[in-house]
Amino acid sequence: MAQHLIARSGEFQRALLAWYRAHARPLPWRTAPSLYQTVVSEFMLQQTQVKTVLPYLARWLAELPGFAALAAAPEARVLKLWEGLGYYSRARNLHRLARAVAAWPDMKRTPEAWRELPGVGPYTAAAITSISFGARAACVDGNVVRILARLTADATEFRDSATASKFFSPLAEALLPATEPGDHNQAMMELGATVCCRQKPLCLTCPVREFCAAARTGAPEKFPRLAAKKMEQRAVARAWCERDGALLLHLAAGGARRFANIHELPTPAQAGLEEANVARGELLGKKRRGITRFQITESIHMAPAPRGKLRAGLAWVPLAGLGAITLSGPHRRWIGEILAARATR
Ligand code: ADE
Repeated sequence: MAQHLIARSGEFQRALLAWYRAHARPLPWRTAPSLYQTVVSEFMLQQTQVKTVLPYLARWLAELPGFAALAAAPEARVLKLWEGLGYYSRARNLHRLARAVAAWPDMKRTPEAWRELPGVGPYTAAAITSISFGARAACVDGNVVRILARLTADATEFRDSATASKFFSPLAEALLPATEPGDHNQAMMELGATVCCRQKPLCLTCPVREFCAAARTGAPEKFPRLAAKKMEQRAVARAWCERDGALLLHLAAGGARRFANIHELPTPAQAGLEEANVARGELLGKKRRGITRFQITESIHMAPAPRGKLRAGLAWVPLAGLGAITLSGPHRRWIGEILAARATR
């Protein structure tokens, strides 16, 4: 099936590109492209949808307009601008990347050189260098896997999306045109995001339907076949300690930890409180969030202030000053909900 498609790659590319030119959403990194904007948007888009990214990107570019400004910014500022996007290692990596790029004597233009930078995997390296420098590198993410699995009606079952990306990478490269690889890559992303959708693909409007084996089966949504992700359940207690109009928050130490330099309500262990004591306190809320393969239930209990000297990483933050610090997205929402519920009591 793939050979069939590769034999017609010129026709395929032309149909796809013509459609992209006519129908692409006018996204900021397309209408006014710059290397910096491409890099920032690709980092934001790694785990987040376009519509969520747009306001963050606008704020980011207004405050940190280039690599030099980002390289010079303190980490707290960078994390604050990222607050709510999640997966904060992306922000920290982008910050480190800016410092590296700002120190380069000459701009590097190959995917191999960009792969050396923090947070840049094969997908991001291909996206940045094909879009900014015309490098011939194919982007393969979940969207592209879906398109390629459908074009070829490939029924292989993949263990995870990384395995599927690796599997389809040669086909993606074979379909890449010699000219304008960046537009081709963005056209594939656009097709995956707006036409070749996961649930109900819009085959009637698809510009490459005549090349698609899955469309002919009548059930294109069956492709690709990915093993269901196994989610692990976790339960965590959180302590709500309040004193003199201030809330006790935990700030994880710097380093590789996921929540380094991001505030959250403390666990009993972080606060230096007995787990059983905290669990007996009034339940203010039971909330759920997903992080990678963990489904986490967090129970927030009213708790007494810890005695004695505060443990490392703990701080009393005035309720009126919560807006100025960086909280994780879910904790900002939950704290807001708890305060709002109390105000109406
Ligand atoms: N997702 C990742 N990169 C993208 C881009 N450049 N345009 C649209 N969606 C994307």
